Amino acid sequence: RTDQYILGVETSCDETAVAIIKNGREIVANVVASQIESHKRFGGVVPEIASRHHVEQLTIVFEEAMKQANLDFNDLSAITVTEGPGLVGALLTGINAAKALAFSHGIPLIGVHHIAGHIYANRLIKELEFPLLALVVSGGHTELVYMKEHANFEVIGETLDDAAGEAYDKVARTLGLPYPGGPHIDRLAHEGKPTIDLPRAWLGAGSFDFSFSGLKSAVINTLHNAKQKGIILEAKDVAASFQASVIDVLVTKTSQAVDKYPVKQLLLAGGVAANKGLRTALEKEFSSRDGLELIIPPLSLCTDNAAMIAAIGSVLYDKGIRSDLALNANPGLEL
Ligand code: KG4
Ligand code: ZN
Repeated sequence: RTDQYILGVETSCDETAVAIIKNGREIVANVVASQIESHKRFGGVVPEIASRHHVEQLTIVFEEAMKQANLDFNDLSAITVTEGPGLVGALLTGINAAKALAFSHGIPLIGVHHIAGHIYANRLIKELEFPLLALVVSGGHTELVYMKEHANFEVIGETLDDAAGEAYDKVARTLGLPYPGGPHIDRLAHEGKPTIDLPRAWLGAGSFDFSFSGLKSAVINTLHNAKQKGIILEAKDVAASFQASVIDVLVTKTSQAVDKYPVKQLLLAGGVAANKGLRTALEKEFSSRDGLELIIPPLSLCTDNAAMIAAIGSVLYDKGIRSDLALNANPGLEL
């Protein structure tokens, strides 16, 4: 066998995903079954419902991926699966499916970190060059990650409270928008103007940490005070003001990090990387910097998928890393 095929499984939250990549970088199958519709009426992901949906969808999604790739299980070099972080019950469904397949077909099994996956989604676009810096903005994480080499992650800054995506979803909820709110705020923000003055948490000079809970509270208080005074604030202007604050902090801190840590590449990763305003702002700030390459994955590789899980899995496979059948869900796994 000359080509390497890695199968990835992702079930950490509300997407059931299986993908297969060839030789570390080429997607040959990528299937995502979203459960968003089932969680919408609860205004957020319900863990028990998520697990149940994963169990129902996994076999179908597996078969679809194998069909897309036109491969046999014997062709697979390894099965890689999200070990954490995420919802424990949801993680376990993917881990158990991956274990069963690995065991019954005698294929190596590798547990991977979900955020490492988000970062490695970029390798499906462009070969990584080190050192690099990744801005990770997802529903559960907001981090600046410095990498000197493959699979070596140094978190130089992270959120002290809410993640960026979490703040988007909470503000959206306050504005009466459906879950997940990120894309709705993004759309509204482009129709409105940032007329409302909202705070930016810089957390002191030289800090690469983030905080978004104060911003979220400021939005809620502003809406409350306006209502009491009988002032009508337009949702689109609230969205534009909130988004302006988030993007200002993300871009400014990333810029300071790039100044302190000279890198060859800057990667964007995580669900909030789908944000149009953020993508545009990063392009404006970084696309013409000498010696720095900005990589922004397409929307389908920003939100949860399994191609990214196979992408980090491929690197770990090449390094000789393997998990055994004692692999367990680790909801609080560190990068
Ligand atoms: O990475 P992801 O798919 O799941 C986690 O690992 O958390 O991220 C989901 C988050 C949600 O909070 C969602 O609202 C946010 O990404 N999101 C966006 C956009 N698309 C998804 N946030 C802002 N603008 C968007 N266009
Ligand atoms: Zn994610």
